[in-house]
Amino acid sequence: MAIRFDILTTFPEMFSELSPAAMGVSIPARARKAGLAEWHATDIRSYSKDKHRKTDERPFGGGPGMVMMCQPVWDAVMAVEGLDARPATRILLTPQGVPLKQGLVEELAKKERLLLIAGHYEGIDERVIQKLAPMEISIGDYVLSGGELAAMVLMDAVIRLIPGVLGDDESAGSDSFGVASGDREGRRLLDCPHYTRPREWEGMEVPEVLMSGDHGRIAKWRLERMVERTRERRPDLFPNKEGEK
Ligand code: ADE
Repeated sequence: MAIRFDILTTFPEMFSELSPAAMGVSIPARARKAGLAEWHATDIRSYSKDKHRKTDERPFGGGPGMVMMCQPVWDAVMAVEGLDARPATRILLTPQGVPLKQGLVEELAKKERLLLIAGHYEGIDERVIQKLAPMEISIGDYVLSGGELAAMVLMDAVIRLIPGVLGDDESAGSDSFGVASGDREGRRLLDCPHYTRPREWEGMEVPEVLMSGDHGRIAKWRLERMVERTRERRPDLFPNKEGEK
């Protein structure tokens, strides 16, 4: 059965399958057409009890920005959870969440249903977060205008891991951060450099080993480049051992 995403947002149009934006193209769109993933965006405003469909208010204690109110968020979550019998893993996208890493993406890809809450404004009233007890996830140490793009990043990363979504020639195992195939220590490494035709471009040659046809040598070279790149660019990805930093 397809994994189901529900996105709760005040900008549901960002998730339209008709829009040629992120979710309407490439691998997510293909997965959706193949019936391997589905998503439904729900407008939190529809659950506002205010005649102007207001979902936010000024913060108690003063200060800039607006805070999303408990009631519309709570009612939206309750209504959306009732749309499908499968229990949903609740996720709030927030810069205060745990960092999204490939290991967490792999865990999420095993779920049947993810309910993604995309906040806007300064944040969401803490009490509704407490009561919903969602996983809080951040996609990085920077602040976006809202959780929608973060939700799309999470969805894209999850969808490409669903069995059958990627073809054999696009296997996720050889991506950066996947556990490197051929690495006895099962480390998560950055990807190696890639080359395609022509053999020579602007005086620059493709590494000779890639033209050798020797699959053993090629695999060894690629793994070495992965380790080298990771050590140079992201030493933090290695377990903190002597010689790895
Ligand atoms: N909302 C705003 N910034 C975010 C971030 N970095 N990650 C997840 N959700 C967010």
